[in-house]
Amino acid sequence: MEGWRTGLVTTFVPEIPFDTFKGEYVVVVVGPPPMMKFTGLNLMEQGVEPEKVYMSFERKISCAIGKCGHCRIDEVYVCLDGPVFPYTVARDLID
Ligand code: FES
Repeated sequence: MEGWRTGLVTTFVPEIPFDTFKGEYVVVVVGPPPMMKFTGLNLMEQGVEPEKVYMSFERKISCAIGKCGHCRIDEVYVCLDGPVFPYTVARDLID
């Protein structure tokens, strides 16, 4: 897609100038649960709208067909309902 940029961010969330992007961005967070939790919190502190943030939980998938329960977080089956969730859902799924 023309004009789209992607990047890999680890510890640099506070340095990203989200306000200069004029709302033309999404953030996808992938990693271990503690990192995802604190990255999400940090993004919120930076003023990023929760609707702009997505989190991926594919690491929990085993059978991928809803049978083994390995991916289950509360009542959510990551393999069937995700594995990518909007932050508004994911913030409550982080185990
Ligand atoms: S990976 Fe087995 S139920 Fe989701």
